[in-house]
Amino acid sequence: MKSYDIAVIGGDGTGPEVVHEAVKVLDAAANKFGLKLNYTKYDLGGERYLRTGEILPDSVLEELRKFPAILLGAIGHPSVKPGILEKGILLRARFELEQYINLRPVKLYDERFCPLKDKKPQDIDFVVVRENNEGLYTGAGGFVFKGTANEVALQESVNTRRGVERCLRFAFEFARKRNKEKKLTLCGKTNVLTFAFDLWERAFNEVGEKDFKDIKRDYAHVDATTMWFVKNPEWFDVIVTDNMFGDIITDLGAMLQGGMGIAAGGNVNPQGTSMFEPIGGSAPKYTGQGVINPLAAICAGQMMLDFLGETEAARTIETTVIKIVREKIKSLAAGKMGYTTSQVGDLVAEAL
Ligand code: IPM
Ligand code: MN
Repeated sequence: MKSYDIAVIGGDGTGPEVVHEAVKVLDAAANKFGLKLNYTKYDLGGERYLRTGEILPDSVLEELRKFPAILLGAIGHPSVKPGILEKGILLRARFELEQYINLRPVKLYDERFCPLKDKKPQDIDFVVVRENNEGLYTGAGGFVFKGTANEVALQESVNTRRGVERCLRFAFEFARKRNKEKKLTLCGKTNVLTFAFDLWERAFNEVGEKDFKDIKRDYAHVDATTMWFVKNPEWFDVIVTDNMFGDIITDLGAMLQGGMGIAAGGNVNPQGTSMFEPIGGSAPKYTGQGVINPLAAICAGQMMLDFLGETEAARTIETTVIKIVREKIKSLAAGKMGYTTSQVGDLVAEAL
C-alpha cells in the first residue's frame, strides 16, 4: 500500500474547518484507491502567535522539509497586524521551501456560477503559473528618511535569470503535459517594465525556441490580460507571469470560476516540499459557523494527490466535485450553498 506523510496546517479563521473537510475527502479517496495518508498537524497561525509570540519557528520549518506535501487552510488573523503572519508563515514557507511555482487552475465547473454572460465550462479552463519566489515579494528595498517630508520608499522587483528560467521551463513542461492547445502566454508589461520583462521575454523566447518548439508562444500585457479574462477567457491555455501580476490576475481568475469558494492553488517545489491551499483567505467573520465553502480546500487536496503522482485518485475527486457542484450546490458563496460546511464535505466523500 502506498503511503504518504502529509503536514496539515489548519491556520486561522475558517482554515481549520475547510481543511477538516479536505481531509475527509482525501481519506475517502485514499480508501477507494488503496492509499494511506498519514497526517501530522502543525499549530501555526494567529492564535499561536498571540499566545506565544512564535510565528514559524525554525524547528517547525525543518520538520516541514521532511514532508512531500503540506495542506494549508488559511493564514490571517484580525487581531494581528497585516503582514506579520502572511510574511512570517505563508511567504516564509514559500521562500524557504523553494516553492518557486504557484500553480493556479481557473476552471469553471458550472456555468450558473460564472459572473460572465454566456460563458460555459469549456470557455473557462486555463492555468496560471505564477512565479512564487521573486519579483516584488522578496522584500528587497527600503526606506530613506522614513517619517520625514523627504521620505522615500523603494520596493524592488527581483528577477534572476535562474529564477525566471526555472519558472518558464515549468510552465512550458506544464503546457506540454496538459496537452490542450499547447499554448503558453507570457503575461508581462514589456512596454513599461523594460528591465524585468525584457529578461522574461528573452528567456521565454530562448527557452521556447531551444527546448519547446511544440509549444506555441503568445504574449499579453498584464492590463490587457485582465481585459481578455473578461472578454475572451477561452483564448488562454497556460499563462506564465511574475509574482505580483500572478497574485492579481488569479483573484480575477477565481471570480471567473465562481469565486474563492472553489479556487485552489499549489505552491510547488518540483523536487521538494509543496504546499496546497484554498486561495481565499481566513474569512474570520464566518469562523465556527459551518457556512464556509470547503470545496476550494477539497480541490487543494485534489491538486496535492495529483502532485504526489496519484493522478487517478485526483481525477476522481475532481469529477466528483464537478458532479456535486452541478447537481447539489446552490451557490459557491459562504452561507448560500444550501448545505453546511461539513455536509458539503460529506456529499463529496460519500459520492466518492
Ligand atoms: C495569495 C495571497 C498572498 C499573496 C498574501 C496573503 C501574502 O494573496 O496567496 O495570493 O500575496 O501571495
Ligand atoms: Mn492573492
